[in-house]
Amino acid sequence: MHFLTITDFDANELQQILDQSQALYAKNVSDPLKGKNILFAFEKPSLRTKVGTEVAINKLGGSVIHVEAPSFFGGKILHAAGHDPSGKREDLKDTMKNVNQWCDAVFARVFDHQTLQTLAQHSEVPIINALCDQHHPMQALADFLTIQQVFGKHSKPTITFVGDRNNVAYSLIEMGLKLGYPMQFTGPKNYYWSGAQLQYFEKLAQESNTNFKHHIDPKDILPGSDVIYSDTFVSMGEEAEYDEKIKTFTPYQVNKTLIDLTGKTTYFMHCLPAHRGIEVTDEVIDSPTSLVYQQAKNRMVSSLGVFHHFLKPE
Ligand code: CP
Ligand code: NVA
Repeated sequence: MHFLTITDFDANELQQILDQSQALYAKNVSDPLKGKNILFAFEKPSLRTKVGTEVAINKLGGSVIHVEAPSFFGGKILHAAGHDPSGKREDLKDTMKNVNQWCDAVFARVFDHQTLQTLAQHSEVPIINALCDQHHPMQALADFLTIQQVFGKHSKPTITFVGDRNNVAYSLIEMGLKLGYPMQFTGPKNYYWSGAQLQYFEKLAQESNTNFKHHIDPKDILPGSDVIYSDTFVSMGEEAEYDEKIKTFTPYQVNKTLIDLTGKTTYFMHCLPAHRGIEVTDEVIDSPTSLVYQQAKNRMVSSLGVFHHFLKPE
């Protein structure tokens, strides 16, 4: 079974992975992944996902093999003479059918979600999404582990994502609604969810007997919010839109004035990397109610549960 999105999993299964993560971390279990080789293939940069997950796999006794992006994703080669005239090194199908012969899982960070689907189609081993343009399921697990550590497992704080409707926001809202948390979103109209996405979130909220509220004006959304979540305004792969997005998103910077709109003690979360002075101020990210480094630690803890779950040790 693959782990490409939160979409494919129900609340029980997601909560089971979170509980297993905590248990594995507390027990310091020895070597359930001994003899397993996990391939890391990243098309984009990464610190937390790469290092946090590799540490988790080491703790479980597994091994990590890093392959550079062009060797895995069949990127263009410089001297294509005599090869494919497009300069492409290899079809992704062939790459995956080779990897099937050696490895027990692939952990891949890609530009396009379709790349993960192609890998999954030709894979005999689990494909785990390390971030794509649409989803960041590993981040969402770490974030809800953090929220449950801070608020307890049975309390359901209201969580508001402020900013861009991106991969992190999608997986966070999706997982929160599945687990029954009241989820909120505020962001500018030019970078808003599609009608179909909003309908999907509303359906999830109804199924879990919770609420999904959204509005372009933070003032309409923030009062009463227990957690404010922020991410970069310009995701990897969107560099060409930098100037336009930075201008558009200015009113969504998480600063003291914006936090004060909640009217209560509010925790701050961010998947990191953060752009200080752009989507968040130093004052907020360095405040005592900022959870960002606890989230970063939990990228490792929740990876214990994910790799244990999907590699099904005996
Ligand atoms: N939050 C996160 O995925 O960080 P990296 O891009 O550093 O892996
Ligand atoms: N939305 C960001 C998340 C980085 C962890 C990006 O995709 O670049």
